[in-house]
Amino acid sequence: MKQIFTTTALAAALALAAGNASATVKVGFMLPYSGTYAALGQAIENGFKLYVKEQGGKLAGQDIEYFQVDDESNPAKGPENANRLIKRDQVDILVGTVHSGVAMALAKAAKDSDTTLIIPNAGADAITGPLCSKNIFRSSFSNWQPSYAMGPVAFEKGYKTAVTITWNYAAGKEAINGFKESFEKAGGKVIKELTLPFPNVEFQPLLTEVASLKPDAVFTFFAGGGAVKFVQDYAKAGLGKSIPLLSSGFLTDGTLEAQGEAAQGLLTTLHYADGLDTPRDNAFRADYTKNYPKMAPDVYAVQGYDAAQILAAGLKAVNGDVSKKDPMRDAMRNATIDSPRGTFKLSKAGNPIQDIYLRQVQGDQNKSIGVAIKDLTDPARGCKL
Ligand code: PHB
Repeated sequence: MKQIFTTTALAAALALAAGNASATVKVGFMLPYSGTYAALGQAIENGFKLYVKEQGGKLAGQDIEYFQVDDESNPAKGPENANRLIKRDQVDILVGTVHSGVAMALAKAAKDSDTTLIIPNAGADAITGPLCSKNIFRSSFSNWQPSYAMGPVAFEKGYKTAVTITWNYAAGKEAINGFKESFEKAGGKVIKELTLPFPNVEFQPLLTEVASLKPDAVFTFFAGGGAVKFVQDYAKAGLGKSIPLLSSGFLTDGTLEAQGEAAQGLLTTLHYADGLDTPRDNAFRADYTKNYPKMAPDVYAVQGYDAAQILAAGLKAVNGDVSKKDPMRDAMRNATIDSPRGTFKLSKAGNPIQDIYLRQVQGDQNKSIGVAIKDLTDPARGCKL
């Protein structure tokens, strides 16, 4: 039979002959494009694509083809959504997601199909703990990490008691556990743990309870649209002046414009901050702003950008041949990532070992006011790699 090659098919055939399994690498984004975390998903995708664009649109000589699924931050739909990318689109690399519960389903699907997964946000401790796996990487954090850094800061400020408030799901619970562990180790006491279902925003009854408990401080985990409303409601309830509000930095990242005056002065801990003023971060921020003028460069954009950097390190080691899974993954695990947040390496479990900044809201910025903990490594409890 006569073969007719289109230019791309010919290029693919030549790449195959040269030893590359495919001329394009298929990247599947499973992210929230709707709901309370929609802006976070968009920022991650923006960051990822920006890094690829900076490399001339290719990684290790390979074109990148993108696929997208909106996971709606809905864990019940997690397995089905993951399989849209794995089985239907046959992606080489999965990038997702934001919500810890959805990420658990995605990690399982990635493991079952031996697909390489880079998590650009969701902090579920178990994924780089008991469920750690050679094919799974995180460019973000474990839920324990940023919150653990706030405990000693709070105690040193003289706060002896704290009440916690969060959504009742893995990310909230694990963030609270991280804070509680270090705050109580320092000598403080968490006197009450308040929760509401994800992604509800009826905070009023909980804030009334806080007012009657009169703790020295409140510690929270909220993010995205819910974080905007929480900060506004906290101020409206008149608590802002009497009971200091502390949080991991998700509370105020990508949200400051909407939170306005209510967020001013808040202290948070996170692995990224405004005002780092390093050449690397300044270059990233300038390019991000140029490409996405309507969005401020935030932690989610950085995590997406670094997910692409982790992939690039793997592809480079195998000359773009994604079928060479083991050497590609070894290179990803051992890479040194030149991140806008500061250079980092991954732990054996695949989670960034990174500085956690102490930040304060000043105007429209989460200004770095120092490093709360240097080179913080997630304990990876239960990981046997
Ligand atoms: C999570 O579900 O792991 C999560 C979601 C949003 C954040 C951080 C963590 O900003």
